[in-house]
Amino acid sequence: MTENILESKEEKFYIENVLVENIAKKYGTPSYIYSKKIILENYLNFKSQFNDIDHLICFAVKSNPNIAILNLLAKNGAGFDIVSGGELQRVIAAKADPKNVVFSGVGKSKEDIELAIKHDILTFNVESEAELFRIQSIAKRLSKVVGISIRVNPDVDPKTHPYISTGLKDNKFGIDEQNAISMYKIANALDSIEIKGIDCHIGSQITELRPFEDSIKKLLVMIDHLKSIDISIKHIDIGGGIGIQYSDEVPPTFSDYAKTVKNILKGRNLKIIFEPGRALIGKAGILITEVEYIKNSSDKNFIIINAAMNDLMRPALYGAFHEIINLSSSDSDQKHYDIVGPVCETGDFLGKDRLLSAEEGNILAVLDAGAYGMSMSSNYNSRLKASEILVDGDKLYLIRNRDTFADLINGEQLLP
Ligand code: LLP
Repeated sequence: MTENILESKEEKFYIENVLVENIAKKYGTPSYIYSKKIILENYLNFKSQFNDIDHLICFAVKSNPNIAILNLLAKNGAGFDIVSGGELQRVIAAKADPKNVVFSGVGKSKEDIELAIKHDILTFNVESEAELFRIQSIAKRLSKVVGISIRVNPDVDPKTHPYISTGLKDNKFGIDEQNAISMYKIANALDSIEIKGIDCHIGSQITELRPFEDSIKKLLVMIDHLKSIDISIKHIDIGGGIGIQYSDEVPPTFSDYAKTVKNILKGRNLKIIFEPGRALIGKAGILITEVEYIKNSSDKNFIIINAAMNDLMRPALYGAFHEIINLSSSDSDQKHYDIVGPVCETGDFLGKDRLLSAEEGNILAVLDAGAYGMSMSSNYNSRLKASEILVDGDKLYLIRNRDTFADLINGEQLLP
Protein backbone atom coordinates (compact mmCIF):
# COMPACT_ATOMS: atom_id res chain seq x y z
CA MET A 1 0.00 0.00 0.00
CA THR A 2 1.14 3.52 -0.69
CA GLU A 3 2.31 5.42 2.35
CA ASN A 4 0.71 8.76 3.03
CA ILE A 5 2.60 11.58 1.42
CA LEU A 6 1.92 13.92 4.35
CA GLU A 7 3.40 13.06 7.68
CA SER A 8 2.19 14.99 10.67
CA LYS A 9 4.51 15.75 13.57
CA GLU A 10 3.39 18.04 16.41
CA GLU A 11 0.53 19.36 14.29
CA LYS A 12 2.85 20.30 11.44
CA PHE A 13 2.82 18.57 8.07
CA TYR A 14 5.87 17.26 6.27
CA ILE A 15 6.60 15.70 2.91
CA GLU A 16 9.67 13.55 3.42
CA ASN A 17 11.83 15.85 5.63
CA VAL A 18 10.41 19.18 4.54
CA LEU A 19 7.75 21.26 6.27
CA VAL A 20 5.11 21.84 3.61
CA GLU A 21 4.34 25.36 4.80
CA ASN A 22 7.97 26.24 4.07
CA ILE A 23 7.55 25.01 0.49
CA ALA A 24 4.53 27.31 0.19
CA LYS A 25 6.61 30.23 1.52
CA LYS A 26 9.47 29.52 -0.82
CA TYR A 27 7.62 28.79 -4.05
CA GLY A 28 4.19 30.31 -3.50
CA THR A 29 0.77 28.82 -4.19
CA PRO A 30 -0.92 27.15 -5.94
CA SER A 31 1.81 24.58 -6.40
CA TYR A 32 1.95 20.88 -7.01
CA ILE A 33 4.35 19.02 -4.73
CA TYR A 34 5.54 15.47 -5.31
CA SER A 35 7.51 13.03 -3.17
CA LYS A 36 10.32 11.29 -5.01
CA LYS A 37 10.32 8.58 -2.37
CA ILE A 38 6.66 7.71 -2.91
CA ILE A 39 6.92 7.76 -6.70
CA LEU A 40 9.83 5.34 -6.57
CA GLU A 41 8.26 3.17 -3.88
CA ASN A 42 5.12 2.79 -5.97
CA TYR A 43 6.99 2.08 -9.16
CA LEU A 44 9.46 -0.36 -7.59
CA ASN A 45 6.70 -2.11 -5.66
CA PHE A 46 4.71 -2.58 -8.87
CA LYS A 47 7.80 -3.77 -10.72
CA SER A 48 8.86 -6.20 -7.99
CA GLN A 49 5.56 -8.06 -8.42
CA PHE A 50 6.65 -9.08 -11.91
CA ASN A 51 10.34 -9.86 -11.31
CA ASP A 52 9.78 -13.44 -12.35
CA ILE A 53 8.23 -12.73 -15.74
CA ASP A 54 9.22 -10.84 -18.87
CA HIS A 55 7.53 -7.46 -18.60
CA LEU A 56 7.72 -3.75 -19.37
CA ILE A 57 6.04 -1.02 -17.35
CA CYS A 58 5.03 1.80 -19.69
CA PHE A 59 4.09 4.73 -17.46
CA ALA A 60 1.06 6.56 -18.89
CA VAL A 61 2.59 9.95 -19.66
CA LYS A 62 -0.80 11.68 -19.71
CA SER A 63 -1.20 11.13 -15.98
CA ASN A 64 1.82 13.27 -15.19
CA PRO A 65 4.05 14.38 -18.04
CA ASN A 66 6.62 16.45 -16.12
CA ILE A 67 9.99 15.57 -17.65
CA ALA A 68 11.70 15.30 -14.24
CA ILE A 69 9.21 12.60 -13.26
CA LEU A 70 9.54 10.80 -16.60
CA ASN A 71 13.32 10.91 -16.22
CA LEU A 72 13.15 9.47 -12.71
CA LEU A 73 11.05 6.56 -13.92
CA ALA A 74 13.15 6.00 -17.06
CA LYS A 75 16.31 5.80 -14.93
CA ASN A 76 14.62 2.97 -13.08
CA GLY A 77 13.79 1.07 -16.22
CA ALA A 78 10.32 2.33 -17.11
CA GLY A 79 9.00 2.62 -20.62
CA PHE A 80 6.15 4.94 -21.56
CA ASP A 81 2.63 4.89 -22.96
CA ILE A 82 2.08 7.98 -25.10
CA VAL A 83 -0.91 9.37 -26.96
CA SER A 84 0.61 12.21 -28.96
CA GLY A 85 3.76 13.50 -30.61
CA GLY A 86 3.96 16.02 -27.78
CA GLU A 87 4.19 13.20 -25.26
CA LEU A 88 6.89 11.54 -27.35
CA GLN A 89 8.85 14.82 -27.36
CA ARG A 90 8.56 14.86 -23.58
CA VAL A 91 9.86 11.30 -23.33
CA ILE A 92 12.82 12.31 -25.49
CA ALA A 93 13.39 15.51 -23.45
CA ALA A 94 13.37 13.30 -20.36
CA LYS A 95 16.31 11.38 -21.87
CA ALA A 96 14.27 8.18 -22.00
CA ASP A 97 14.60 5.61 -24.74
CA PRO A 98 11.82 5.76 -27.36
CA LYS A 99 12.42 2.05 -27.97
CA ASN A 100 10.39 1.47 -24.81
CA VAL A 101 7.42 3.52 -25.96
CA VAL A 102 3.97 2.28 -26.90
CA PHE A 103 1.73 4.71 -28.77
CA SER A 104 -2.01 4.56 -28.03
CA GLY A 105 -4.90 6.79 -29.08
CA VAL A 106 -7.67 6.84 -31.67
CA GLY A 107 -6.55 9.92 -33.61
CA LYS A 108 -2.84 9.63 -34.33
CA SER A 109 -1.90 12.32 -36.84
CA LYS A 110 0.38 11.74 -39.84
CA GLU A 111 3.04 13.96 -38.28
CA ASP A 112 2.90 12.11 -34.96
CA ILE A 113 3.09 8.72 -36.65
CA GLU A 114 6.09 9.82 -38.69
CA LEU A 115 7.85 11.18 -35.60
CA ALA A 116 7.25 7.93 -33.72
CA ILE A 117 8.46 5.80 -36.64
CA LYS A 118 11.61 7.89 -36.97
CA HIS A 119 12.32 7.29 -33.29
CA ASP A 120 11.80 3.53 -33.60
CA ILE A 121 9.20 3.19 -30.88
CA LEU A 122 8.35 -0.30 -29.67
CA THR A 123 4.80 -0.51 -30.99
CA PHE A 124 1.75 1.37 -32.18
CA ASN A 125 -1.44 0.32 -30.44
CA VAL A 126 -3.60 0.55 -33.54
CA GLU A 127 -7.21 1.58 -33.03
CA SER A 128 -8.72 1.43 -36.54
CA GLU A 129 -8.20 -0.04 -39.98
CA ALA A 130 -7.65 3.44 -41.42
CA GLU A 131 -4.86 4.00 -38.92
CA LEU A 132 -3.24 0.69 -39.86
CA PHE A 133 -3.11 1.73 -43.52
CA ARG A 134 -1.81 5.16 -42.58
CA ILE A 135 1.03 3.61 -40.57
CA GLN A 136 1.83 1.18 -43.40
CA SER A 137 2.03 3.97 -45.96
CA ILE A 138 4.23 6.26 -43.82
CA ALA A 139 6.48 3.34 -42.82
CA LYS A 140 6.90 2.35 -46.45
CA ARG A 141 7.84 5.88 -47.47
CA LEU A 142 10.44 5.90 -44.69
CA SER A 143 11.65 2.40 -45.65
CA LYS A 144 10.95 1.08 -42.17
CA VAL A 145 9.18 -1.95 -40.77
CA VAL A 146 7.01 -0.88 -37.87
CA GLY A 147 5.77 -2.89 -34.89
CA ILE A 148 2.06 -2.87 -34.18
CA SER A 149 -0.48 -4.28 -31.75
CA ILE A 150 -4.20 -4.07 -32.27
CA ARG A 151 -6.05 -2.39 -29.43
CA VAL A 152 -8.98 -4.65 -28.71
CA ASN A 153 -12.17 -3.36 -27.19
CA PRO A 154 -13.20 -6.39 -25.14
CA ASP A 155 -16.62 -4.98 -24.17
CA VAL A 156 -15.98 -5.31 -20.45
CA ASP A 157 -17.54 -2.94 -17.94
CA PRO A 158 -14.78 -1.47 -15.78
CA LYS A 159 -17.41 -0.06 -13.37
CA THR A 160 -15.89 3.37 -13.23
CA HIS A 161 -16.98 6.91 -14.14
CA PRO A 162 -18.49 6.85 -17.66
CA TYR A 163 -16.06 9.53 -18.91
CA ILE A 164 -13.07 7.33 -18.11
CA SER A 165 -14.49 4.00 -19.19
CA THR A 166 -12.93 2.92 -22.48
CA GLY A 167 -13.51 -0.79 -22.98
CA LEU A 168 -17.25 -0.89 -23.65
CA LYS A 169 -18.51 -1.46 -27.16
CA ASP A 170 -20.08 2.02 -27.26
CA ASN A 171 -16.74 3.68 -26.52
CA LYS A 172 -14.61 5.10 -29.32
CA PHE A 173 -11.58 3.06 -28.30
CA GLY A 174 -10.18 -0.13 -29.80
CA ILE A 175 -11.67 -2.68 -32.15
CA ASP A 176 -14.16 -5.42 -31.30
CA GLU A 177 -12.83 -8.95 -31.11
CA GLN A 178 -14.15 -10.15 -34.45
CA ASN A 179 -12.96 -7.17 -36.47
CA ALA A 180 -9.63 -7.25 -34.67
CA ILE A 181 -9.00 -10.75 -36.03
CA SER A 182 -9.72 -9.55 -39.57
CA MET A 183 -7.38 -6.63 -39.00
CA TYR A 184 -4.58 -8.93 -37.87
CA LYS A 185 -5.01 -10.84 -41.13
CA ILE A 186 -4.75 -7.59 -43.10
CA ALA A 187 -1.75 -6.43 -41.06
CA ASN A 188 -0.05 -9.76 -41.63
CA ALA A 189 -0.07 -9.11 -45.35
CA LEU A 190 1.36 -5.57 -45.15
CA ASP A 191 5.07 -5.43 -45.93
CA SER A 192 5.98 -2.48 -43.67
CA ILE A 193 4.11 -3.82 -40.66
CA GLU A 194 5.35 -6.33 -38.10
CA ILE A 195 2.74 -7.77 -35.75
CA LYS A 196 4.15 -7.63 -32.25
CA GLY A 197 1.36 -7.75 -29.75
CA ILE A 198 -2.19 -7.36 -28.65
CA ASP A 199 -3.44 -4.54 -26.48
CA CYS A 200 -6.37 -3.36 -24.42
CA HIS A 201 -7.07 -0.62 -21.91
CA ILE A 202 -10.56 -0.75 -20.48
CA GLY A 203 -10.70 2.35 -18.31
CA SER A 204 -9.28 4.20 -15.39
CA GLN A 205 -9.78 4.28 -11.61
CA ILE A 206 -10.86 0.63 -11.64
CA THR A 207 -11.26 -0.77 -8.14
CA GLU A 208 -12.15 -4.38 -8.90
CA LEU A 209 -10.03 -7.16 -10.35
CA ARG A 210 -12.80 -8.83 -12.30
CA PRO A 211 -12.83 -6.45 -15.30
CA PHE A 212 -9.07 -6.93 -15.74
CA GLU A 213 -9.50 -10.69 -15.47
CA ASP A 214 -12.33 -10.77 -18.01
CA SER A 215 -10.52 -8.66 -20.56
CA ILE A 216 -7.23 -10.57 -20.34
CA LYS A 217 -9.11 -13.85 -20.79
CA LYS A 218 -10.76 -12.49 -23.92
CA LEU A 219 -7.39 -11.45 -25.31
CA LEU A 220 -5.98 -14.93 -24.67
CA VAL A 221 -8.80 -16.53 -26.64
CA MET A 222 -7.88 -14.22 -29.49
CA ILE A 223 -4.18 -15.04 -29.20
CA ASP A 224 -5.02 -18.75 -29.53
CA HIS A 225 -7.22 -18.10 -32.51
CA LEU A 226 -4.47 -16.04 -34.16
CA LYS A 227 -1.96 -18.80 -33.50
CA SER A 228 -4.21 -21.27 -35.31
CA ILE A 229 -3.93 -19.07 -38.40
CA ASP A 230 -0.16 -18.68 -38.02
CA ILE A 231 -0.15 -15.20 -36.57
CA SER A 232 2.08 -15.10 -33.56
CA ILE A 233 1.70 -12.58 -30.74
CA LYS A 234 4.79 -11.80 -28.69
CA HIS A 235 3.41 -9.45 -26.09
CA ILE A 236 0.14 -8.74 -24.37
CA ASP A 237 -0.41 -5.13 -23.25
CA ILE A 238 -3.11 -5.03 -20.60
CA GLY A 239 -3.21 -1.24 -20.26
CA GLY A 240 -3.41 0.72 -17.06
CA GLY A 241 -6.43 1.58 -14.99
CA ILE A 242 -5.70 0.40 -11.45
CA GLY A 243 -7.54 2.70 -9.07
CA ILE A 244 -6.36 4.47 -5.94
CA GLN A 245 -8.13 5.40 -2.75
CA TYR A 246 -9.46 8.97 -2.86
CA SER A 247 -12.12 8.48 -0.17
CA ASP A 248 -13.56 5.10 0.76
CA GLU A 249 -12.77 3.06 -2.37
CA VAL A 250 -10.81 -0.13 -1.81
CA PRO A 251 -8.66 -0.66 -4.88
CA PRO A 252 -6.75 -3.91 -5.34
CA THR A 253 -3.21 -4.00 -3.97
CA PHE A 254 -0.42 -4.39 -6.51
CA SER A 255 0.17 -7.83 -5.11
CA ASP A 256 -3.45 -8.93 -5.64
CA TYR A 257 -3.46 -7.42 -9.11
CA ALA A 258 -0.22 -9.24 -9.95
CA LYS A 259 -1.49 -12.55 -8.59
CA THR A 260 -4.60 -12.32 -10.74
CA VAL A 261 -2.71 -11.34 -13.87
CA LYS A 262 0.04 -13.93 -13.44
CA ASN A 263 -2.44 -16.64 -12.69
CA ILE A 264 -4.30 -16.08 -15.96
CA LEU A 265 -1.07 -15.81 -17.97
CA LYS A 266 0.59 -18.85 -16.38
CA GLY A 267 2.28 -21.15 -18.87
CA ARG A 268 2.09 -18.61 -21.68
CA ASN A 269 5.26 -17.49 -23.36
CA LEU A 270 4.20 -13.86 -23.53
CA LYS A 271 5.87 -10.64 -22.55
CA ILE A 272 3.47 -8.50 -20.57
CA ILE A 273 3.21 -4.74 -20.93
CA PHE A 274 1.47 -2.50 -18.39
CA GLU A 275 0.41 1.11 -18.82
CA PRO A 276 -0.22 2.34 -15.28
CA GLY A 277 -0.48 6.06 -14.57
CA ARG A 278 -2.62 6.96 -11.59
CA ALA A 279 -1.59 3.99 -9.44
CA LEU A 280 2.05 5.09 -9.59
CA ILE A 281 1.76 8.85 -9.30
CA GLY A 282 -1.71 9.72 -7.91
CA LYS A 283 -0.89 9.47 -4.23
CA ALA A 284 2.61 10.86 -4.70
CA GLY A 285 1.43 14.44 -5.24
CA ILE A 286 -0.61 17.18 -3.58
CA LEU A 287 -1.80 20.60 -4.64
CA ILE A 288 -1.19 23.36 -2.10
CA THR A 289 -3.27 26.49 -2.13
CA GLU A 290 -3.82 29.55 0.04
CA VAL A 291 -7.10 30.74 1.52
CA GLU A 292 -7.97 34.09 -0.04
CA TYR A 293 -11.26 34.74 1.71
CA ILE A 294 -13.79 33.17 4.01
CA LYS A 295 -17.30 34.02 2.83
CA ASN A 296 -20.24 33.14 5.03
CA SER A 297 -23.81 33.56 3.91
CA SER A 298 -27.04 32.46 5.52
CA ASP A 299 -27.19 29.26 3.45
CA LYS A 300 -23.61 28.36 2.68
CA ASN A 301 -20.09 28.96 3.82
CA PHE A 302 -17.31 29.22 1.30
CA ILE A 303 -13.57 29.01 1.54
CA ILE A 304 -12.30 30.86 -1.49
CA ILE A 305 -8.84 29.63 -2.37
CA ASN A 306 -6.25 30.67 -4.92
CA ALA A 307 -6.39 27.33 -6.78
CA ALA A 308 -9.27 26.61 -9.13
CA MET A 309 -10.74 24.24 -11.67
CA ASN A 310 -8.05 25.30 -14.12
CA ASP A 311 -5.42 23.90 -11.73
CA LEU A 312 -7.27 20.71 -10.80
CA MET A 313 -10.12 19.90 -13.11
CA ARG A 314 -11.17 16.52 -11.71
CA PRO A 315 -13.84 17.76 -9.26
CA ALA A 316 -15.48 20.02 -11.88
CA LEU A 317 -15.29 17.46 -14.68
CA TYR A 318 -16.12 14.20 -12.93
CA GLY A 319 -17.44 15.32 -9.56
CA ALA A 320 -14.29 13.65 -8.24
CA PHE A 321 -13.51 13.70 -4.53
CA HIS A 322 -10.13 14.86 -3.24
CA GLU A 323 -9.52 15.09 0.49
CA ILE A 324 -8.62 18.63 1.55
CA ILE A 325 -6.84 19.47 4.77
CA ASN A 326 -5.68 22.65 6.41
CA LEU A 327 -1.91 22.59 6.91
CA SER A 328 -1.91 25.80 8.99
CA SER A 329 -3.21 26.13 12.49
CA SER A 330 -6.49 27.96 12.80
CA ASP A 331 -8.44 28.90 15.92
CA SER A 332 -11.66 29.58 14.08
CA ASP A 333 -14.69 27.33 14.57
CA GLN A 334 -15.09 24.27 12.39
CA LYS A 335 -17.78 24.70 9.76
CA HIS A 336 -19.06 22.98 6.67
CA TYR A 337 -17.58 24.77 3.68
CA ASP A 338 -17.63 24.54 -0.08
CA ILE A 339 -14.04 25.07 -1.15
CA VAL A 340 -14.09 27.09 -4.33
CA GLY A 341 -11.68 28.88 -6.64
CA PRO A 342 -11.74 32.31 -8.28
CA VAL A 343 -12.90 31.06 -11.70
CA CYS A 344 -16.21 32.48 -12.86
CA GLU A 345 -18.15 29.21 -13.03
CA THR A 346 -20.33 27.53 -10.44
CA GLY A 347 -18.57 24.27 -11.36
CA ASP A 348 -15.36 25.76 -9.99
CA PHE A 349 -15.05 23.86 -6.74
CA LEU A 350 -12.37 21.59 -5.35
CA GLY A 351 -14.45 20.27 -2.47
CA LYS A 352 -18.04 20.44 -1.26
CA ASP A 353 -19.44 20.44 2.22
CA ARG A 354 -16.13 19.86 3.97
CA LEU A 355 -15.84 20.24 7.72
CA LEU A 356 -12.84 22.51 8.30
CA SER A 357 -11.53 25.26 10.45
CA ALA A 358 -9.82 27.84 8.27
CA GLU A 359 -8.97 31.50 7.97
CA GLU A 360 -7.49 33.86 5.43
CA GLY A 361 -3.85 33.11 4.67
CA ASN A 362 -4.01 29.44 5.71
CA ILE A 363 -2.40 26.87 3.43
CA LEU A 364 -4.64 23.99 2.37
CA ALA A 365 -3.52 20.74 0.77
CA VAL A 366 -5.61 18.96 -1.84
CA LEU A 367 -4.55 15.34 -1.59
CA ASP A 368 -4.02 12.59 -4.16
CA ALA A 369 -3.44 15.12 -6.91
CA GLY A 370 -0.34 13.61 -8.51
CA ALA A 371 -2.24 12.08 -11.44
CA TYR A 372 -4.37 14.06 -13.91
CA GLY A 373 -3.83 17.20 -11.84
CA MET A 374 -1.17 19.35 -13.46
CA SER A 375 -1.53 17.39 -16.67
CA MET A 376 -5.13 18.55 -17.16
CA SER A 377 -4.56 22.11 -15.99
CA SER A 378 -5.16 25.10 -18.24
CA ASN A 379 -4.85 28.87 -18.33
CA TYR A 380 -8.63 29.37 -18.22
CA ASN A 381 -9.56 32.80 -16.90
CA SER A 382 -5.99 33.78 -17.87
CA ARG A 383 -4.70 32.20 -14.73
CA LEU A 384 -1.03 31.33 -14.49
CA LYS A 385 -0.35 27.60 -14.36
CA ALA A 386 1.04 26.39 -11.05
CA SER A 387 4.63 25.52 -10.27
CA GLU A 388 5.70 21.95 -9.54
CA ILE A 389 8.18 20.96 -6.85
CA LEU A 390 9.73 17.59 -6.15
CA VAL A 391 10.84 16.74 -2.62
CA ASP A 392 13.77 14.39 -2.17
CA GLY A 393 14.66 13.89 1.50
CA ASP A 394 15.43 17.38 2.71
CA LYS A 395 16.03 18.75 -0.78
CA LEU A 396 13.57 20.66 -2.93
CA TYR A 397 13.66 20.81 -6.69
CA LEU A 398 11.56 23.24 -8.69
CA ILE A 399 10.64 21.01 -11.63
CA ARG A 400 8.35 23.53 -13.30
CA ASN A 401 8.32 27.30 -12.95
CA ARG A 402 5.01 28.99 -12.29
CA ASP A 403 3.79 30.61 -15.54
CA THR A 404 4.64 34.25 -15.99
CA PHE A 405 2.39 36.81 -17.67
CA ALA A 406 4.73 36.61 -20.66
CA ASP A 407 3.98 32.86 -20.89
CA LEU A 408 0.29 33.67 -20.90
CA ILE A 409 0.34 35.64 -24.15
CA ASN A 410 3.32 33.88 -25.69
CA GLY A 411 2.70 33.47 -29.42
CA GLU A 412 -0.26 35.84 -29.57
CA GLN A 413 -0.09 38.79 -32.00
CA LEU A 414 -1.81 42.14 -32.28
CA LEU A 415 -3.37 42.85 -35.68
CA PRO A 416 -1.12 45.03 -37.87
N1 LLP B 1 -3.32 3.54 -21.22
C1 LLP B 1 -4.22 4.20 -21.97
C2 LLP B 1 -4.38 3.85 -23.38
C3 LLP B 1 -5.00 5.22 -21.39
O1 LLP B 1 -5.89 5.86 -22.12
C4 LLP B 1 -4.83 5.53 -20.01
C5 LLP B 1 -5.63 6.56 -19.37
C6 LLP B 1 -3.85 4.82 -19.27
C7 LLP B 1 -3.12 3.82 -19.92
C8 LLP B 1 -3.57 5.09 -17.83
O2 LLP B 1 -4.65 4.84 -17.01
P1 LLP B 1 -4.47 4.91 -15.42
O3 LLP B 1 -3.54 3.79 -15.02
O4 LLP B 1 -3.89 6.24 -15.08
O5 LLP B 1 -5.84 4.74 -14.91
N2 LLP B 1 -8.50 12.23 -16.51
C9 LLP B 1 -9.08 11.09 -15.87
C10 LLP B 1 -8.40 9.81 -16.24
C11 LLP B 1 -8.35 9.58 -17.73
C12 LLP B 1 -7.59 8.34 -18.11
C13 LLP B 1 -7.34 8.31 -19.56
N3 LLP B 1 -6.57 7.19 -19.99
C14 LLP B 1 -9.09 11.32 -14.37
O6 LLP B 1 -8.66 12.37 -13.92
O7 LLP B 1 -9.58 10.47 -13.62
